[in-house]
Amino acid sequence: MNKVGIIGLGMLGNAVALNLLESNFEITAYNRTKEKTSELEKKGAIIVDTPKEVAEKSELLIIIVKDAKAVRQVSFEKNGIIEGKHENLIVADMSTIEPSESKIISKKFSEYGINKLDVPVMGGPNVAITGDLVMMASGNKESFDECQNVLNAIANKVFFLGDSGIAHSVKLAMNLQIAMLALSLSEGIMLMEKSGVDPKIFLEILNSTYFKTGMSEKKAFKMIDGKYNTTFTLANLKKDISTMTNTAKELGIDLPMISKAEEVYGNAVDAGFGEIDYTGIIELFKKNNNRNQQKS
Ligand SMILES: NC(=O)c1ccc[n+]([C@@H]2O[C@H](COP(=O)([O-])OP(=O)(O)OC[C@H]3O[C@@H](n4cnc5c(N)ncnc54)[C@H](OP(=O)(O)O)[C@@H]3O)[C@@H](O)[C@H]2O)c1
Repeated sequence: MNKVGIIGLGMLGNAVALNLLESNFEITAYNRTKEKTSELEKKGAIIVDTPKEVAEKSELLIIIVKDAKAVRQVSFEKNGIIEGKHENLIVADMSTIEPSESKIISKKFSEYGINKLDVPVMGGPNVAITGDLVMMASGNKESFDECQNVLNAIANKVFFLGDSGIAHSVKLAMNLQIAMLALSLSEGIMLMEKSGVDPKIFLEILNSTYFKTGMSEKKAFKMIDGKYNTTFTLANLKKDISTMTNTAKELGIDLPMISKAEEVYGNAVDAGFGEIDYTGIIELFKKNNNRNQQKS
């Protein structure tokens, strides 16, 4: 398989597309906001005006947009993917969406004779650019096998998990870890600062233990300084947290911590921190605690 389409050139989609170009795939791409396509065009991608045209030119079409609503729009609305369908087309959705939505969207594609895979990923643009994402895949196994060469160029680990929706269920459990880690680091750093202890010492000790994480080793130092290199926005993580709480409701289960996290991340978005990196959640804690101290 050599002809790959990408719909959605946000932070993740642009990096995935650049890596595939570098790996000699023929790339056709579409983004709703055309200005974001210029880097890719300069590097040799074909830029088109509609999702329909991406479908016409692709064997594997990867959707990397914000949420389920956006996936439905690029798939089924006017000039959408289904209008460009042909017998060699496979669609793969890398957007983080509800597992239930993923199943409904797969079913709708199958009514048009198109197999849709779920291919959510872990890792951001910084590892997407070198093909080092971790991918969770589900859907039709034959279609998955057919596009293995592309998926292996995108990710250094690909887990095939079974029927449609399963990969997105696992992805939600993964992002739940991210949301909680950013909160626990924020609270630890705040506790240190307000206790008069250098929070970098706290991180050095944490990183000497079994409890260290990639986040505590890399991003946490930037949280102290408030200098962010945004790879995944706080607003998008809030969107994913709502996806988790919606899914918990559908399953009839109680996940108290992620419900609380939804409130905290929601407050951060309302306070204007939505477009910085998700680890900027600490800015809400800094703002609230400094304000409280000024009052007392
Ligand atoms: N960044 C990461 O580290 C990361 C990692 C794993 C998974 N993800 C997931 O991957 C997806 C993309 O993330 P990102 O970081 O690339 O986000 P982003 O930078 O905010 O980009 C979002 C993309 O979705 C498009 N979009 C939004 N609404 C749309 C609509 N109604 N119709 C058509 N296109 C629409 C945007 O188009 P415009 O440019 O026109 O707004 C843009 O291309 C999200 O589901 C995210 O949760 C991200």
